[in-house]
Amino acid sequence: MIKVAPSILSADYVNLQRDIEKVEQGGAEYLHIDVMDGTFVPSISYGPGFVKAIRPISKLVLDVHLMVQQPEHLLPDFIEAGADIIGVQVEATAHIHRALQIIKNGGVKAEVVINPGTPVSQITPVLGMVDQVLVMTVNPGFGGQKFLPETVAKIAELSQLKQANGYNFDIEIDGGVNNETVVACYKAGATVAVAGSYVFNATDPVAKMNAIKTATK
Ligand code: DX5
Ligand code: ZN
Repeated sequence: MIKVAPSILSADYVNLQRDIEKVEQGGAEYLHIDVMDGTFVPSISYGPGFVKAIRPISKLVLDVHLMVQQPEHLLPDFIEAGADIIGVQVEATAHIHRALQIIKNGGVKAEVVINPGTPVSQITPVLGMVDQVLVMTVNPGFGGQKFLPETVAKIAELSQLKQANGYNFDIEIDGGVNNETVVACYKAGATVAVAGSYVFNATDPVAKMNAIKTATK
């Protein structure tokens, strides 16, 4: 069964604590927090203060996805804010190894993220040092986009590299995930599913999380 990481990008910000408690009690494993800078992606969302505010109200694994240019400058603030996992986009820095090392040295799990247009070969040099790889299944920047099926081959490729080299990183998927699109990803080796609009735009978010879990039993 896949682990579920609801993305609060699609939650109700005015009732954020209520929404977080709902998914936490409903069996979510992670809480996915999308940080956007208006440069790497067109939108702006929230920063380290937001993570810091959420930390005391939830025991969920805080899974912070940085869609920001030159993330290394912001890493100390997100580490201090209480993130459990921090993901950096390989396309956003000239120094991916250094960025991942800063995260690990801060005692936080390190994740590398690849866009749909980025090949797995671009991250093979760092696969031995990461705790999680995030394969974007849409182009980052917005919730509610359509899943790109051509990304599934990259999940399978990563899964094969994982086995061949004895790595034990999680493989996370993000974008357009629902109870149907998750199936091929899970079969290809995905272990964590981010879901934003599918979960939070529903009248019963917990039922949607369960649908993802049931589809990957
Ligand atoms: C997109 C973000 C996602 C987003 C997913 O740039 O990284 O985490 O919240 O939203 P859905 O699940 O609606 O595609
Ligand atoms: Zn995300």
